[in-house]
Amino acid sequence: MGGLILNEGVEAYMNGLLPKRDVVLSEMEKLAKRRDIPIIGPACARVLYLMAKLTKARRVFEMGSAIGYSTIWLARAVGPQGRVYYTDGDASNSRTAREFLTRAGVERRVDVLVGDALKLLEQTPGKFDIIFIDVDKHQYPESLRRALPRLRSGGLVIADNVLWSGKVTRRAHDENTRGIQEFNRAIYASHKLFPIIVPLRDGVAICQKL
Ligand SMILES: C[S@@+](CC[C@H](N)C(=O)[O-])C[C@H]1O[C@@H](n2cnc3c(N)ncnc32)[C@H](O)[C@@H]1O
Repeated sequence: MGGLILNEGVEAYMNGLLPKRDVVLSEMEKLAKRRDIPIIGPACARVLYLMAKLTKARRVFEMGSAIGYSTIWLARAVGPQGRVYYTDGDASNSRTAREFLTRAGVERRVDVLVGDALKLLEQTPGKFDIIFIDVDKHQYPESLRRALPRLRSGGLVIADNVLWSGKVTRRAHDENTRGIQEFNRAIYASHKLFPIIVPLRDGVAICQKL
């Protein structure tokens, strides 16, 4: 879901500055638009990429990967020695993702896991440099609880859609908005995290584990 947090003119201006993506990413962006697949998009994908580079991330766990768009950005950032765990509950998404990952030349550094991302995280041993949360929004608080112990100190929890088209500012009755509101309160209340929310596109939270 791409909510308009910034005004339309500013959003268009910033998007106009973005360099062209390669053929594979461009095709994925078009497919996502056509089929209404909620990918993170190029502006926020650059945040993921930069964060992975700055923290020299080698092991990244992604919760909710869809067709693998954010996965490709992360896989490129971790480099050939790195590992990215793709997860999605939808097997047909995973088949599409495999094709794109192969065409992007990063398939050897990605483990494609199909099932519930929260369970898959439990089943995948070791610590991670980055855990990226992009599952159903009511699952954000539980995803955070499970992600924290699995991060190395200095590592990052990153979550997309944390401003949820601005719905977080209002009293909410739906479980997704409530989930995000609880997640945002939890990251700022945690003594184990140093969080920021970047109001880019639909809002991205970046939290360093202390
Ligand atoms: C917003 S999309 C992910 C977009 C992707 N991160 C990107 O930016 O390219 C969310 C995806 O998470 C999947 N999903 C939602 N809840 C899940 C869960 N608990 N376990 C696994 N996949 C889940 C959905 O099938 C959907 O494809």
